[in-house]
Amino acid sequence: MILVTGGAGFIGANFVLDWLRDGDEPVVNADKLTYAGNAETLAPLSSDERHVFVREDICDRAAMDALFSTYKPRAVVHFAAESHVDRSIHGPGEFVQTNVVGTFTLLEAARAYWGTLSGAERDAFRFLHVSTDEVFGSLGPADAAFSEVTAYAPNSPYSASKAASDHFVRAYHHTYGLPTLTTNCSNNYGPYQFPEKLIPLTLINALAGKRLPVYGDGSNVRDWLYVGDHCAAIRTVLARGTPGETYNIGGWNEKKNIEVVRTLCALLDELRPAAGGARYESQIEFVKDRPGHDQRYAIDATKIERELGWRPAETFETGLRKTVQWYLDHAAWVQGVTSGSYRHWIEKHYAPQS
Ligand code: NAD
Ligand code: TYD
Repeated sequence: MILVTGGAGFIGANFVLDWLRDGDEPVVNADKLTYAGNAETLAPLSSDERHVFVREDICDRAAMDALFSTYKPRAVVHFAAESHVDRSIHGPGEFVQTNVVGTFTLLEAARAYWGTLSGAERDAFRFLHVSTDEVFGSLGPADAAFSEVTAYAPNSPYSASKAASDHFVRAYHHTYGLPTLTTNCSNNYGPYQFPEKLIPLTLINALAGKRLPVYGDGSNVRDWLYVGDHCAAIRTVLARGTPGETYNIGGWNEKKNIEVVRTLCALLDELRPAAGGARYESQIEFVKDRPGHDQRYAIDATKIERELGWRPAETFETGLRKTVQWYLDHAAWVQGVTSGSYRHWIEKHYAPQS
């Protein structure tokens, strides 16, 4: 089986759902269920024996050791993290704890377990670390996109903590030979994303008649990738990536924030017209910029295509349309998240184990 961390979050849950849709290898899913962990997302797996959910903190070494010795995973896919830049600006401590100390703790537990393996099992073991393009810092308009050899230059507490975790993963390969893989991906969007991030926030606020906050002048550029494509890329790297290597993953799809928000508004105008014929765009409001806001991210994803044959299947148009339709069709999930009731559901079903 495989061990997934953070599999109740946005990308981790999509990964687990896709993994068990496409195959039968069981998953042990370790997640602390912070505010970003939503166990309701995993409800379709509640009676699926291939999925074992454990509420655990990756910073807890004894708990991580117990997971390895109990489940003997052949691989780790490590998503668990604090992931929101704005939260990292207000409270960086938790980012150091989970992203740096947590990744270190998981690496130590993985290394100890891997040390007990021999022969084919030892050779086949993988530790896949899911990271971000934000570790590379900010690009100017004419700069070349980030490649795997771009120097690290993190600018926010979030990206600094992810960069630190990437360095530990690198060091564990270099020093101990642990068979690690690192992926650095651009901004994801799609089903089950927590509405603190731009795309779900815009959709949910638009439908609720609230303002759509665009930071600064909306000219910041991000590369956007549909979450299902990211999950497919991770499966590809896990299956065929070379230990010790890093792979950039992106959508070939740079957009200004204001373009993203306007496109979402236009899709909603078409799919869920507002009462009285008002245009959702009229709810856009330019607000105070994020401190240290990176101007542009862009990913050069040629290595993963050339070496492993992965390319995104969705275009921005197809992926965004699917996403808007998903949020329209899943009002109960949205309601659970916006009302906070998903937290009560967690408390009822997943009481802390200690
Ligand atoms: P998310 O915030 O939606 O989910 C994070 C999950 O980790 C949650 O379920 C949370 O409960 C869990 N978690 C947090 N602290 C934990 C701890 N100490 N122990 C165990 N579980 C813990 O994040 P996401 O958007 O799904 O991102 C997943 C990973 O992908 C992160 O490592 C992130 O840095 C990376 N990433 C995200 C994006 C993006 O656009 N969202 C892009 C590139 C890379
Ligand atoms: P976000 O979804 O927070 O992802 P990240 O900061 O990891 O790229 O933000 C995406 C972009 O959208 C980023 O440039 C900040 C901007 N943004 C807004 O303009 N308004 C918002 O309300 C949010 C949450 C983000």
